[in-house]
Amino acid sequence: MSPTVSAHSDFRAWMEGVQTRTEAALERFLPATVQVPAKLHEAMRYTVLGGGKRVRPLLAHAAGELFGASEDAVARAACAVEMIHAYSLVHDDMPCMDDDALRRGKPTVHVAYDEATALLVGDALQAQAFEVLAGSEEVAPARLVTMLRLLAEAAGSAGMCGGQAIDLDSVGLALTLEELERMHQLKTGAMLRVSVLLGALAGRELDARELDALKEYSRAIGLAFQVVDDVLDATEDSATLGKTAGKDAAANKPTYVTILGLGPSKALAEQLRQQAHEALAPFGEQALRLRELADLIVQRKA
Ligand code: IPE
Ligand code: IPE
Ligand code: MG
Ligand code: MG
Ligand code: MG
Repeated sequence: MSPTVSAHSDFRAWMEGVQTRTEAALERFLPATVQVPAKLHEAMRYTVLGGGKRVRPLLAHAAGELFGASEDAVARAACAVEMIHAYSLVHDDMPCMDDDALRRGKPTVHVAYDEATALLVGDALQAQAFEVLAGSEEVAPARLVTMLRLLAEAAGSAGMCGGQAIDLDSVGLALTLEELERMHQLKTGAMLRVSVLLGALAGRELDARELDALKEYSRAIGLAFQVVDDVLDATEDSATLGKTAGKDAAANKPTYVTILGLGPSKALAEQLRQQAHEALAPFGEQALRLRELADLIVQRKA
């Protein structure tokens, strides 16, 4: 086997290992269906379990490994970010937002259940995320408070919710490239950035140089992720994506594809991939998984 092939299969094995452990941890951290209210708990499990690429948990684990996090500490960080992300998808798909019927290859929560349940699933998952992270007993209390604050910032109006608000207000508008980048950095970048930071902080305190390098890496992959999401929406089909393709154009949303064009958007994603690699230089070989994840984010097909 050539070194490239074995490096590749090594990454796959690592990724599948993290995905399996994440699934088991999410299963543990979600309320059981037998607990009242059963329908809400069942819908929370329907939302979170058995689907998604788990990119945010993968980022948290890769950063956690780099900074020596224990399995429990990194699993709590990974599950907290995945729960907030899953909640954001449930609300994003609701009729008042993107009005989508397909997510992760299944009917969306408001379709499988009803709108009120979808609203509550989101609310409950957000709360559950903070409970799971706050239950981290192997992280020093002061550092844990920092982690909780970073997660709140990334999820709130200065992060994901703020980006979603700008997204909804931008229908039909010709945003400038700066405005588009800001929207993407908030709605998608913020949660990806915090996945990396929480994974790292689950391990230990970071010095200024390490923090700067991780922030620069996360900025690049956070933006690249949504640029690629925009490209895939325009180029792939619903079966491949597990969600309705072509939605952005149909809803008249400004995206990288509408503002830059397809070719330049792909070129930008590649440029951001390289910036992510460069940002990791101070960590040397140790940052292999984070480098591989930057490649995955840019080269993915779904
Ligand atoms: C989709 O995120 C929504 C965006 C933030 C672009 P993902 O592409 O990570 O969705 P899942 O988690 O794999 O379903
Ligand atoms: C959603 O962006 C971002 C969040 C859910 C925060 P999109 O609306 O582009 O995501 P998809 O394409 O529906 O997954
Ligand atoms: Mg949306
Ligand atoms: Mg959407
Ligand atoms: Mg999209």
